[in-house]
Amino acid sequence: MRLQDLSSFPSLRSVPLRLRIKRFLPRSLFGRTLLIVVAPTFIMLAVATYVFFDRHWYTVTQRMTHALSGDIAFIVDLLQKSSNPQSTAEVLDMAVQKMDLTVRFAPGQSLPSAPALRGPIAIMLKHELNRSLSNPYVLDMRYAPETIGIYVGVPEGVYMILSPERRIYTPTTQVFILWMTGSSILLTSVALLFMRNQIRPVRRLAEAADSIGKGREVPWFKIEGASEVRQAGAALLVMRERLKRQITQRTAMLAGVSHDLRTPLTRMKLQIALMGASDGLEELSGDIAEMEEMLNAYLAFARGEEGESAVSFDLKGLLEESVTAARRQNGEIVLNVPSELPMIARRNALKRAIGNLLGNALRYGNRAEVSVLQDENGVSVIIDDDGPGIPPDRREDMFRPFTRLEESRNTATGGVGLGLTIARDIARFHGGDVILEDSSLGGLRARIWIPV
Ligand SMILES: Nc1ncnc2c1ncn2[C@@H]1O[C@H](COP(=O)(O)OP(=O)(O)O)[C@@H](O)[C@H]1O
Ligand SMILES: [Mg+2]
Repeated sequence: MRLQDLSSFPSLRSVPLRLRIKRFLPRSLFGRTLLIVVAPTFIMLAVATYVFFDRHWYTVTQRMTHALSGDIAFIVDLLQKSSNPQSTAEVLDMAVQKMDLTVRFAPGQSLPSAPALRGPIAIMLKHELNRSLSNPYVLDMRYAPETIGIYVGVPEGVYMILSPERRIYTPTTQVFILWMTGSSILLTSVALLFMRNQIRPVRRLAEAADSIGKGREVPWFKIEGASEVRQAGAALLVMRERLKRQITQRTAMLAGVSHDLRTPLTRMKLQIALMGASDGLEELSGDIAEMEEMLNAYLAFARGEEGESAVSFDLKGLLEESVTAARRQNGEIVLNVPSELPMIARRNALKRAIGNLLGNALRYGNRAEVSVLQDENGVSVIIDDDGPGIPPDRREDMFRPFTRLEESRNTATGGVGLGLTIARDIARFHGGDVILEDSSLGGLRARIWIPV
């Protein structure tokens, strides 16, 4: 089982609402931290912008449009009241000097047609002009670049008043939004950069735990990161050491016992030989021979366990070697491996496990077929045979040490009963397993699965 699969555990499925919300939340620590850091920032930004628009921008724009329309109404009134050209010229001059407004008069003309108005500022200006001007007018927000044109109709013609845009636009709005967005993006990016560095040790810790679970060495793993991550890393390494020590001790102890048992067995054999032939002794010496064989098989396995470490190799090559070795003994084997398959494992141990399964296939059947299945979880080596197979309810039993389907312990009908035990032990050491199934060839299918 891979780490990601844990979230699909049934216990979580019984909380549908929580799960439904969960589906929309990011799964990785990075994503979640991102959400925690970024979401408040952007909510704050949105609220601040809204408040700013609603209050500050609206108020300021209203006051500015109010002032502009007041000035325009004032000038139009003054111009209409002035009787001689002299005072008219004075008013026009004053408008340019003091109010930044250029006024021209087109006698005898009528108002042009009104262009379409868009945007909140135009609407606010129109609203203010309606209030302060009693004459008809036409507003052109795009008279020229950065210039607004206002045509005011009087009985004698049309006044055209030009005002710079800046009299009603407040540039602080754009500046404010730019600063807010810019600084938020900058600060968030810096936060993300630092966050990445915090999350890397966690990811490496997960990778190390995964590798250790598959029986690999992790020389690249060093304890780093925040104190909690360091603590977890240190605990992982201590745990690995303890497990290693425990396994070594068990294997060594069993090997010691097996080894020491051989001496009394040899003595017994000698004794029986000295006693000469008599009833029952034959059986006894058979039993002793069998016990010796069992001990030897275990010792051979325990010796093989010592000190091998995982290496990277090509599985196809290993399978070819195993098949060649098995063919030399007896039987017919078909090997279906399409291409090279690089993998990391204890090569000798894996070869032993596959050898055991192949040996079984040829011992209990006549024909064997070896194939490989690869997916994103790992590699399966599948060994089919055409033998009698094992009834489904007995399959698990066969993995127990010294257990055989045929109970007689007759060496003609099988081995000592350690083959499957050892194969599963090796597979499980790599985080995988050996599974027995029905074969399409009619016999047993043994599947050895190693995660990648
Ligand atoms: N391919 C197979 N077909 C039929 N029976 C099998 C097969 N492989 C294993 N078995 C049964 O499972 C038992 C245990 O297998 P194993 O652990 O390899 O021990 P051994 O082969 O030494 O007897 C065998 O004795 C045999 O009865
Ligand atoms: Mg066997």
